[in-house]
Amino acid sequence: MPLQVKRFREKDIRRVYSWIKSERVLVQWAGPIFSWPFTQKQFRDHLRASRAKQPTFYPFGLYKGDLLVGYCELSDVHRKAQAARLSRVIISPGYRNKGLAQIMIENVLGFGFQEFGLNRIGLGVFDFNKPAIKCYKKLGFVLEGTLRESAKVGNSFWNCHMMSILRKEWHRKNSSQLHL
Ligand SMILES: CC(C)(COP(=O)(O)OP(=O)(O)OC[C@H]1O[C@@H](n2cnc3c(N)ncnc32)[C@H](O)[C@@H]1OP(=O)(O)O)[C@@H](O)C(=O)NCCC(=O)NCCS
Repeated sequence: MPLQVKRFREKDIRRVYSWIKSERVLVQWAGPIFSWPFTQKQFRDHLRASRAKQPTFYPFGLYKGDLLVGYCELSDVHRKAQAARLSRVIISPGYRNKGLAQIMIENVLGFGFQEFGLNRIGLGVFDFNKPAIKCYKKLGFVLEGTLRESAKVGNSFWNCHMMSILRKEWHRKNSSQLHL
């Protein structure tokens, strides 16, 4: 079944919502922008900004046929600085560790660097999130520094690694022929 990255369809809000089973997962996925208990309405309200005339973020879905298996955003798009962030990356729990995040992000980097003319794409990832860090490093993101104890979940403070990739560091892979 071919995989395709395309604009996220709002009818799939419920599916993303079903992957967020705890406050820990919510913050790991989305940082501080939502509150627990997470609701579909919070997500729908958040997505509204992507429909503005000059949106500053773009939601993407990774689709296996008609089934949503991944989600991420290009956010904080700053046209003058040619910079943006990769945010809210998540793969359906049943589809993890198959390289799908790498496929999804490769496509979004292609969109950002080629079609959007970006020069820089940054991200934040908590330091314990080994699968995410491995995935970002394999794609060419480099570590820039760490925001120490920048989030609090329960009684724990979390450190956040800042990573980025520049257009000159990015090499487009031919991901269009990948199948699952
Ligand atoms: C992070 C996430 C998106 C990765 O998606 P994925 O499709 O499983 O990622 P990939 O398979 O492309 O890459 C993960 C890599 O980490 C490796 N990995 C998995 N668990 C690991 C662990 N505990 N320690 C080190 N590496 C690990 C995998 O083997 C894979 O490496 P490989 O390609 O060399 O085999 C997914 O785990 C997820 O949705 N997590 C919850 C939300 C989240 O944390 N989002 C990130 C926000 S910054």
